[in-house]
Amino acid sequence: MSIILSGIKPTGVPTLGNYLGALKNFVKLQNERKDDDFFFFIADMHAITVPQDPQTLRKNIKNLAALYLACGLSKENLTLFIQSEVKEHLELGYVMQSLVYMGELERMTQYKDKKAKNETGLSSALFTYPALMAADILLYDAKYVPVGEDQMQHLELTRNLAERFNNRFSDTFVVPEGLVTKVGARIMDLQIPTKKMDKSSENGKGCIFLLDEVNLAKKKIKSAVTDNLAHVHYDVANQPGVSNLMTIYSCLTNLSFKEIEDKYEGKGYGEFKEDLANLVGEELTKIQSKFNEYINSKELDEILDEGCKKASYLASKKMKKVYHKLGIGRN
Ligand code: TYM
Repeated sequence: MSIILSGIKPTGVPTLGNYLGALKNFVKLQNERKDDDFFFFIADMHAITVPQDPQTLRKNIKNLAALYLACGLSKENLTLFIQSEVKEHLELGYVMQSLVYMGELERMTQYKDKKAKNETGLSSALFTYPALMAADILLYDAKYVPVGEDQMQHLELTRNLAERFNNRFSDTFVVPEGLVTKVGARIMDLQIPTKKMDKSSENGKGCIFLLDEVNLAKKKIKSAVTDNLAHVHYDVANQPGVSNLMTIYSCLTNLSFKEIEDKYEGKGYGEFKEDLANLVGEELTKIQSKFNEYINSKELDEILDEGCKKASYLASKKMKKVYHKLGIGRN
């Protein structure tokens, strides 16, 4: 039995990128690995590394919890919880801060990108965020961490921190491995296909949110940037827009790029986009109808309460061990 864990930040409504790169993969893994234990959480402490409106944040947390289930996770072997309700995340996060080097944090691309843009008012929590992410994973002895490509650098750091702690204080943490989907690990913005699709995208047209009105989402697909080659062909360097749409298509149908190319041979982009818009529309309709069942249900709160109980039990056991090894406190 292995523990498989991942988290998502409630900084907005999850995007099609979050779905295809992460959530859909979570569901697939859960179906394939019946003997494993799945821990998924809402990373709300990570959300406040950038300013948030409290009312919106509270809503986003609840929405994300419901969306985890709406995307098809089974309740069977699932521990679903809210990060801030398990205090040990912050405790181990602080321990990880004492272990990580400034140079390692300075090399993290998410921080480097923000700094390069000369954004002012960057919080220190944004800088130390990967230490908290390492804690999220190590607290539960997670063996596998399914994530999109952008999180792999954080995962590598987590592995280094686990090994550093184990070497200094004897075996304590499982060294985790990242699991990235073959197709869909990096869905790009529909308007700027050289940029990752992101919740905080300035241009709403480039990003599909899972709770977008279905017709609006379809419109976003139909107005996605392509090129004037009029040839459905996978070539990221020369046809980044079309290649991104093909990736989305492939994730939703399991067709290979070659099969998609053959299907639309000599047909231009109109029919391809129309079909893709319908596929996305159908997927969102399914998710949104389940979302509506969960969002105001008692069941959602019960699942989160249960998840908090189970996660807290394991986390507190782990923290006792960690403090003991560090020589912290009296025991
Ligand atoms: P977050 O909230 O930015 O993204 C959640 C998940 O979605 C993936 N993802 C994408 N995949 C494909 N294409 C995209 N355009 C795209 N955008 C996002 C991300 O890779 C991620 O898997 N730091 C994490 C949250 C976190 C976490 C953790 C994850 C906190 N603690 C512990 C795993 C384990 C984050 O900000 O993800």
